[in-house]
Amino acid sequence: MKFENILIEKSEQIATIIINRPTKLNALNKKTIYELGVAFDELKNDDNTKAIVITGSGSKAFVAGADIAEFSDFDVQQGAELAAEGQDTLFDFVQNLETPVIAAINGFALGGGLELAMAAHFRVASSTAKMGLPEVSLGLIPGYGGTQRLPQLVGKGKALEMILTANMLSAEEALKNGLVNYVTEPEDLLPLCYKLAKKITTNSSSAIAAAIRAVNANYDTDKNGYLVEINEFGNCFGTADFEEGTTAFLEKRRAEFE
Ligand code: COA
Repeated sequence: MKFENILIEKSEQIATIIINRPTKLNALNKKTIYELGVAFDELKNDDNTKAIVITGSGSKAFVAGADIAEFSDFDVQQGAELAAEGQDTLFDFVQNLETPVIAAINGFALGGGLELAMAAHFRVASSTAKMGLPEVSLGLIPGYGGTQRLPQLVGKGKALEMILTANMLSAEEALKNGLVNYVTEPEDLLPLCYKLAKKITTNSSSAIAAAIRAVNANYDTDKNGYLVEINEFGNCFGTADFEEGTTAFLEKRRAEFE
């Protein structure tokens, strides 16, 4: 599919999605959310993509939130639909994607932008990044999973402080609170993300998918994560990657996964 608001680059089994509306600080309008959903779905089915990095174009913003201009005249029903559709097509989809997604936060990650970064499997921030959920300053609350994922990452007290004050965290504060895993100089952001992604591509894709399912089960009230782990662990023993991984170890060579 030809995209209008995103760019996709591929190199050495790593795909990069660039959200490309710099004049609107990469704000997520409906079309961008749709295109991102399609892009992630396409990459999910691409056997040659083993890790995905998502970032924003320009140096100012990752994503400055959902597009406020687009929903300013919505009613209750339209508001609920906006959140439900977005969660389903993009945010939950990314969280449950079995190809790891790293968010490279290159600037403002606000509202839906931080929610998208939090749906990714982990986050790296540029020292210039600023992160927050400012929805209450607009008479709203986060609608793309932010009230759930932020407490999971930073704890309930810090999450409520951020949501209720609408304050932004600096990159260093985000690092201290566990919201991001690393802070880099702006020019080192993508190289570090690619280094982490490259390491991921050397591991077993089937085991990585199982690990993501098991970790996510902890946050799914319908599932017992320990039981999911037992089943996923057991299933690994039936995979070609398990055979290759253990054989390579015993033969003192590097495993070559499919
Ligand atoms: N939705 C729609 N448009 C947005 C946007 C958003 N979330 N965030 C920024 N933009 C647009 C601005 O309207 C402006 O467009 P214009 O040039 O056509 O007027 C352009 O992006 C640049 O933004 P601007 O506000 O001029 O930049 P700034 O450097 O003065 O401020 C921010 C940067 C991020 C502090 C400010 O843009 C902002 O507060 N954005 C909204 C953040 C937010 O509340 N997000 C949650 C939404 S639920």
